Amino acid sequence: MAAYEYETHEYDVVVVGAGGAGLRATLGMAEQGLRTACVTKVFPTRSHTVAAQGGIAASLSNMGPDHWQWHMYDTVKGSDWLGDTDAMEYLAREAPKAVYELEHYGVPFSRTEEGKIYQRPFGGHTTEFGEGPPVQRTCAAADRTGHAILHTLYGQSLKQQAEFYIEYFAIDLIMSDDGVCQGVLCWKLDDGTLHMFSAKMVVLATGGYGRAYFSATSAHTCTGDGGGMVARAGLPLQDMEFVQFHPTGIYGAGCLITEGARGEGGYLTNAEGERFMERYAPTYKDLASRDVVSRCMTMEIREGRGVGDQGDHIHLHLNHLPPETLAERLPGISESARIFAGVDLTKEPIPVLPTVHYNMGGIPTNYWGEVLSPTSDDPDRVSPGLMAVGEAGCASVHGANRLGSNSLIDLVVFGRAAAIRAGQIIDPEMANPTLNERSVEMALARFDGLRHARGQVPTAELRLEMQKTMQDDAAVFRTDETLSQGVKKMEGVADKLDDLQVSDTSLVWNSDLMETLELANLMPNAVATIVSAEARKESRGAHAHEDYPDRDDENWRKHSLTWFKGIKPKLDYRGVHTDPLTSHNEGGIDLKKIAPKARVY
Ligand code: FUM
Repeated sequence: MAAYEYETHEYDVVVVGAGGAGLRATLGMAEQGLRTACVTKVFPTRSHTVAAQGGIAASLSNMGPDHWQWHMYDTVKGSDWLGDTDAMEYLAREAPKAVYELEHYGVPFSRTEEGKIYQRPFGGHTTEFGEGPPVQRTCAAADRTGHAILHTLYGQSLKQQAEFYIEYFAIDLIMSDDGVCQGVLCWKLDDGTLHMFSAKMVVLATGGYGRAYFSATSAHTCTGDGGGMVARAGLPLQDMEFVQFHPTGIYGAGCLITEGARGEGGYLTNAEGERFMERYAPTYKDLASRDVVSRCMTMEIREGRGVGDQGDHIHLHLNHLPPETLAERLPGISESARIFAGVDLTKEPIPVLPTVHYNMGGIPTNYWGEVLSPTSDDPDRVSPGLMAVGEAGCASVHGANRLGSNSLIDLVVFGRAAAIRAGQIIDPEMANPTLNERSVEMALARFDGLRHARGQVPTAELRLEMQKTMQDDAAVFRTDETLSQGVKKMEGVADKLDDLQVSDTSLVWNSDLMETLELANLMPNAVATIVSAEARKESRGAHAHEDYPDRDDENWRKHSLTWFKGIKPKLDYRGVHTDPLTSHNEGGIDLKKIAPKARVY
């Protein structure tokens, strides 16, 4: 192995990733006086949160009656009863506070006539515990809500003296022999130097792994880097079988057309011009939960009612809405439709198709963001020194299916929670831990091994094989046959990691090496997804298994956990938290209201 030198930086907290969750955590940590660094492989305001369009859910009641308990109920039902009840209560209760904080930090929300934050309807968000009409709960900054949040949080973090290390790629976690996270080794992309960030707390805010699939609304940077590092550190990934397909990715290009489009009155039609959602979801129609809408669209296409020459997509209509509404509320998608579909949405429908959008699974945490390392005796055991927030984490509030606009609120509620918790447990006076040399050596050796990989398979070729396999065999609908075939294929694909060929050995702006490190991170995420999907013999949320079409609470209301030895997975399970944080007597939710039942919209 080549000899590597590295520069060491000491902080109380190192946050890896600068999307909505990473920035909210960074800001909260710095506000409390913790010495905080944020390390990110892209410029903060280019993080994938910038692409979040429709909005952020919170029961502000600006447009009509709403209540945090209704939001909680919708989240529980949306999760198909797989979310952890304490975490879902925390999310729904804290959401209004977290949004008002954003407002005070300066997020330029759209406004009502009275000057309040504008809120729009989104799928699965209802009133009266699912018995009333849809609610306008999703707070929006036109259709550029993520963009607005990201710019505001970055500015506020700088104001609080958080230090940013931009275009640094996180290679591996440094772990003590007894499992305490002590820091993270990073590679500075523009000059090739290595940097060791020693910290009392490392917060993984690295986003999802949408790029394990061929067609995704996720940025090319969404490569599950946190999940990859955690898997190599011997910690599990949770509920990875639950992958969300957004109903309205632009056909062909895969770019997102926000659910806010349907919230503002848009609707879907098939080749017969029929508003088919009325048949499947008579009450909430096009505003049913997004897993439901994606499945209905897929069924229409399969049954020969898709639109276009190939009958392989669906139409989204906005052309009946006033052009002023489109210009004011949906300017971003007006532009996307023109650029990526060649459509003037004031005149024509947009061709759309369900597209991979979000990973419900991730690194297991409690609702403070602390990473879990479950054992059979203690399923909620905390792994010291490590937190995960945002799409990288699994708190678990989304369970088997996330509601639209519950992602942005997850980012800020749990980014904020992680900062509150860190303030309680980190002693700024204490010295940083001495780094475990063995762990440092392992991280350097793996980096060097990939840098000098001289096998037969180019990274781009293996990545494509993985993406195509996942797209074909872990899709909207799954069967025993497709899943077991997918598991076999993915075993072969993953084995080829040992035969990679990296042609550029330089350390400066080496995109070949960076993409190889990213592929090595994507792989355990992809393998965990297909293996846990193959094992789950029921249908729940986004996991629609045609051989087991019903939800089976008796046997399967449990979280899957996937550990890795090398790239070989091992599965186990842990129970769902069914108790809320506060009892009904303390103003908390009445458990009867959220007890499992059939999930219809
Ligand atoms: O449709 C959207 O605007 C996406 C929102 C979300 O995934 O939460």
